[in-house]
Amino acid sequence: MILEIKDLYVSIDGKEILKGLNLVVKQGETHVIMGPNGSGKSTLARTIMGHPKSTVTKGDIIVDGKSLAGMTTDKRARLGLFLQFQNPVEVEGVGFINFLHLAKQSSGDTTTSTKDFMKEVKGSIADLKMDEDFIGRSLNQNFSGGEKKKAEVLQLSVLKPKIAILDEPDSGLDIDAIKIVSAEVNKIAGKENLGLLIITHYSRILSFIKPQFVHVMIDGKIVADGGQELIEKLEKEGYDSYISKKSV
Ligand SMILES: Nc1ncnc2c1ncn2[C@@H]1O[C@H](COP(=O)(O)OP(=O)(O)OP(=O)(O)O)[C@@H](O)[C@H]1O
Ligand SMILES: [Mg+2]
Repeated sequence: MILEIKDLYVSIDGKEILKGLNLVVKQGETHVIMGPNGSGKSTLARTIMGHPKSTVTKGDIIVDGKSLAGMTTDKRARLGLFLQFQNPVEVEGVGFINFLHLAKQSSGDTTTSTKDFMKEVKGSIADLKMDEDFIGRSLNQNFSGGEKKKAEVLQLSVLKPKIAILDEPDSGLDIDAIKIVSAEVNKIAGKENLGLLIITHYSRILSFIKPQFVHVMIDGKIVADGGQELIEKLEKEGYDSYISKKSV
């Protein structure tokens, strides 16, 4: 799968947030986007998944040569796109495992038996060092911040998308949990030839999940691209030089 974002302009409630963004992510590649708060990273992630509030005013999002314009979130997920939310929602009364099972079935997988599904889920729960209690709980309800993040990685491991966007998968994770989550993401990525688009503020997770492509996003567009050396540069220098470049 190839995800192409071409000269994308997006408004939310009439306010322009993305301003001519270009990005190409292929299956098997790992990309990271870093950028200041409010630069539009989560907006980009939600727009790729077809959030109803994101209005594309110009440009396009293309998967394997086909525009996603007008396509529902559900259909985008079925194509093989996945978003781990920065702030997952709590859903009362929806069992976490039922949700996972339904999501798996609606992703087009009707061949995995319930028994194999449960085995897979339990394996991932063990990998992620989550408590088996989660099997009986409502989706994200009263999960701690870190538990919600792990629950989303569990979804990733069950759904096996082609390209996954992880919006701050490290936020709120303790020191050990970052390693555990990274190991699980690496395991899935290696097995399934997953394409990854990771949004993060911190280089720590990137020492475990190593990106080949690093992008700097300022004020709604990508202003610099590079490799891992760019992460070190950003850690040292911050975003100042890019922000001043913008106003020239
Ligand atoms: N409904 C809305 N109405 C007006 N502005 C909005 C709306 N939703 C988002 N924004 C604005 O869009 C901008 C981009 O937000 P977004 O969440 O994409 O940033 P971000 O890069 O993910 O930031 P962070 O690093 O803090 O997560 C912000 O200035 C935000 O206030
Ligand atoms: Mg964000």
